[in-house]
Amino acid sequence: MLTALKTFARKSKISIIAYKIFDNVRLRREFRTGQIETQHGSTHQGKTTAESLDYINAQFADYLKYSGLSEQELKGRRVLELGSGDNVGLALRFLASGAARVVCLDKFYSQRNSDQQLAIYRALRETLPAANRDRFDDAINLESDLAINPEKLKCVYGVDLEDAAAGLSVDEGAFDMIISRAVIEEIYLPDGVFEATDKLLAPGGLILHKIDLSDYGIFSGGGMHPLTLLTIPETIYRMMASDSGIPNRKLIGYYRNKLKELGYESKIFVTSLLGQGTLDPHKETPRLNDDYMEATRALVDQIRPKLSGKYKDMSNEDLIVDGIFIIGKKPAN
Ligand SMILES: C[S@@+](CC[C@H](N)C(=O)[O-])C[C@H]1O[C@@H](n2cnc3c(N)ncnc32)[C@H](O)[C@@H]1O
Repeated sequence: MLTALKTFARKSKISIIAYKIFDNVRLRREFRTGQIETQHGSTHQGKTTAESLDYINAQFADYLKYSGLSEQELKGRRVLELGSGDNVGLALRFLASGAARVVCLDKFYSQRNSDQQLAIYRALRETLPAANRDRFDDAINLESDLAINPEKLKCVYGVDLEDAAAGLSVDEGAFDMIISRAVIEEIYLPDGVFEATDKLLAPGGLILHKIDLSDYGIFSGGGMHPLTLLTIPETIYRMMASDSGIPNRKLIGYYRNKLKELGYESKIFVTSLLGQGTLDPHKETPRLNDDYMEATRALVDQIRPKLSGKYKDMSNEDLIVDGIFIIGKKPAN
């Protein structure tokens, strides 16, 4: 039934909107009745062990590269990872590099295959230098099953950060780093997350969030304009997105203002551009003719008259940004 509905919904903008509204109601009901298991976030499903390792290592390298931290500087840090999905490989990578503790918090529980997870962790362990391997072994025992050392790593599922923040603050104290990848865009009203992370962050602590600003292929996957998402009025969009984890439609300007409001020293790297894909290396200010062409701007002009509300007046430079990496440093006192 669900598959038939999905197939039908791919056909037109109206049917996609109707399907997403239906899905939003379904997911809200499921979450409220305690059904937190999803396939969403099962990033490693269908990946080979080598591909999973590449993914974990690329994430880790990204966090270091764009934060400007060296691996040695992770020593003793306390890390909170939001939306870790089906795998704690990244958390283990931080712990193996000397982080003191990692807490992974996910609103849902992504389905996973424990044999596959074990294979990924075993392979990850093999790639580590001896000192890192000792710290890895201190965090997780792979001998028989997955035995996590609760002193090093804790996983929390089924709760929003806003609801978990007070308890986390009492149980864990302050974090030195709060990180996420492909998570913030799924939170319909992310203001609460920034408030919560601000409270949980130690003075001088860092937030590092990689945020996908694309339409997740909802419309573009069916051959429609990649900004079709922004043509939907907010009152309707709320019914599609409040609980379903589809993109929240917050664009780069929202995050710029948020970091300013928090008083954080900050950088925002553009990771991806409309119709072009990844911008590698990511850049703070992509330039016309160097990083993107007139055709990209023309793509925005093509849909601008149809954009809804505030999107209509946004600059081309903001509308072409399809992904970002934000780095914010909380003032030291
Ligand atoms: C696209 S997946 C990304 C998973 C992982 N970070 C990765 O890069 O593979 C998004 C993850 O965010 C989680 N998520 C969605 N909303 C969340 C929220 N409000 N708080 C914490 N996690 C959330 C989902 O359950 C899912 O595991």
